[in-house]
Amino acid sequence: MRKNKSMKPEEDAYGQEIWAYYKGREIFEIWERDDGYISVSTHGPKIYFSEYEDWALHEKRAMDFVEGRVLDIGCGAGRHSLYLQKKGFDVLGIDNSPLAIKVCRLRGLKKAKAMSIEEVSFKPNSFDTIIMMGNNFSLFGSFKKARRLLNRFHKMTSQNATIIAETRDPYKTDNPAYLEYYEFNKKRGRMSGQLRGRVRFEKYVGKWFDWLMVSKEEMQEILNGTGWKVNKFIDSEDSQYIAIIKKASE
Ligand SMILES: C[S@@+](CC[C@H](N)C(=O)[O-])C[C@H]1O[C@@H](n2cnc3c(N)ncnc32)[C@H](O)[C@@H]1O
Repeated sequence: MRKNKSMKPEEDAYGQEIWAYYKGREIFEIWERDDGYISVSTHGPKIYFSEYEDWALHEKRAMDFVEGRVLDIGCGAGRHSLYLQKKGFDVLGIDNSPLAIKVCRLRGLKKAKAMSIEEVSFKPNSFDTIIMMGNNFSLFGSFKKARRLLNRFHKMTSQNATIIAETRDPYKTDNPAYLEYYEFNKKRGRMSGQLRGRVRFEKYVGKWFDWLMVSKEEMQEILNGTGWKVNKFIDSEDSQYIAIIKKASE
């Protein structure tokens, strides 16, 4: 396993936000895009702690595809890991936020580790299912990085492994601030939905990172030749969707 290069405490804005909510504070999530656009969400932190009964239907349906040993990438406060652990699955939740991992452990997650997606590397046949929920397909960051990591995930999973990944179709919006940003991205040679941003919470400022939102066609292009194939899409009522991705047989 690669060495964990966890972030500095002052950079753990996501974790501070999760910690504050865990401590009972009413808070919101601030996300700053690299063109200065700011979005504020009150449902962000609340959703990270939500129980199965309150999840959107597409998320609930996705859980039916989980099998065997599970790796939850970017587990946040651990809502999916905890649900699956309770169902009897062997689950490891990882997140690059040390504070989020602390909250997962305090909430009862037995296996939780501060580790970023870039550091994920396990020996062959370590997991049967990888979940990337809460739009975490976007943690792949870029076309190139997604393919590199998908190749790595291929090596460390079992023969019939599944990746369950959620994202948002960036084109399903009429918000001019987003449509303009996609044009700006295309001009600088990035994918339209490759959003560069950072999370802020009080005095904490996260590091800039790329958040990759893709259409279904773009996702299939990314997967092409990686040994992974979309088996099924589960749509939501809006632009979010979940892909059930299976290891393609040789
Ligand atoms: C949108 S939240 C989703 C949390 C959780 N999956 C859920 O649905 O409630 C994204 C999570 O990814 C984590 N994260 C961000 N960058 C990451 C990285 N490079 N590696 C691992 N986790 C990361 C954040 O700390 C945060 O907890």
